[in-house]
Amino acid sequence: MEFRHLGRSGLKVSEISYGNWLTHGSQVEEDAAKQCVQAALDEGITTFDTADVYAATKAEEVLGRALKGVRRESLEIFTKVYWPTGPGQNDRGLSRKHITESINGSLRRLQTDYVDLYQAHRFDYETPLEETLKTFDDLVRQGKVLYVGVSEWNADQIAQALKIADEMGFDRIVSNQPQYSMLWRVIEGEIVPLSEKEGIGQIVWSPIGQGVLTGKYLPGQRPPEGSRATDGSGGSAMIARFMNDDVLTRVQELKPIAADLGLSMAQLAVAWVLQNPNVSSAIVGASRPEQVRDNVKAAGVKLDADVLKRIDDVLGSVVERDPAKTQSPSTRP
Ligand SMILES: NC(=O)c1ccc[n+]([C@@H]2O[C@H](COP(=O)([O-])OP(=O)(O)OC[C@H]3O[C@@H](n4cnc5c(N)ncnc54)[C@H](OP(=O)(O)O)[C@@H]3O)[C@@H](O)[C@H]2O)c1
Repeated sequence: MEFRHLGRSGLKVSEISYGNWLTHGSQVEEDAAKQCVQAALDEGITTFDTADVYAATKAEEVLGRALKGVRRESLEIFTKVYWPTGPGQNDRGLSRKHITESINGSLRRLQTDYVDLYQAHRFDYETPLEETLKTFDDLVRQGKVLYVGVSEWNADQIAQALKIADEMGFDRIVSNQPQYSMLWRVIEGEIVPLSEKEGIGQIVWSPIGQGVLTGKYLPGQRPPEGSRATDGSGGSAMIARFMNDDVLTRVQELKPIAADLGLSMAQLAVAWVLQNPNVSSAIVGASRPEQVRDNVKAAGVKLDADVLKRIDDVLGSVVERDPAKTQSPSTRP
């Protein structure tokens, strides 16, 4: 495994991290979840990403149990707050009340005294930014949270937050967690330039396009049994944007590029996001331990300019680059 700094902070993270959205507590059973975490640890992954909302809070519990007994100092545990965790009007968003209640629930479920990184899972248009940032700062002072970050905030929102933090002396955002893959490059236009200037690192999600970039979904054919595209718990809706014949046909054409490099398609996809020096870590998901073992081999792989050009030529117009696609709900969900 290789390690990178989380933005300009002193924290080092494994350049491949493991995330348990849609898997632990829902798609895969406890034993398989534990095996995936064990495979991640065996392969040198030290950084684990989850969220209060995943599997209606069960994912944090599963991760807490799977990591029990592992030396806490050898791990970086990331979680998030924003999406609803209960039926009440205050069980969501980035108010002082919900953040304070949510972190306490996350720490209990994860069986830890602190998380290394606490992330605002979307921008909350219904809470003053000062209130959110002050609450995050308080959590840092209380030692419940070591670093703060955001997820899917646009460049203006990140810039506003940095300005307020600087004016008020609050802890600064050190990371952003956006979707980023060969197919989804919407951060490159605005967020990456701002982040490079401000010392913010990207912890990117769905680097394998939720499985699409493995090439296992064939144009005109039904998705393989048990794959995310057949999963009823929300995964099939999110993956749908890539499940069209134009995308799937072009992805098949990436196979000779991976083969020439001696890489699997998943490794090529993960290696691709890691070529961007503003990326601190690529979070991979896995429903089976062998997927983790396959994907981690992308650590340290260098892709030269010719390879990057071949990939761009194959994918052509199906690549999404519009910065406006970075969006948070206009009202709380
Ligand atoms: N901040 C946010 O808003 C946000 C949103 C989404 C995700 N995330 C984070 O990012 C993490 C990763 O997201 P993701 O799960 O969508 O990432 P991903 O790595 O692009 O997709 C993972 C899925 O692809 C399939 N897969 C992975 N490796 C494979 C391999 N070698 N061969 C065949 N299939 C393979 C598996 O699904 P199947 O086996 O089921 O097909 C696996 O669950 C999440 O767990 C979460 O921590 C954050």
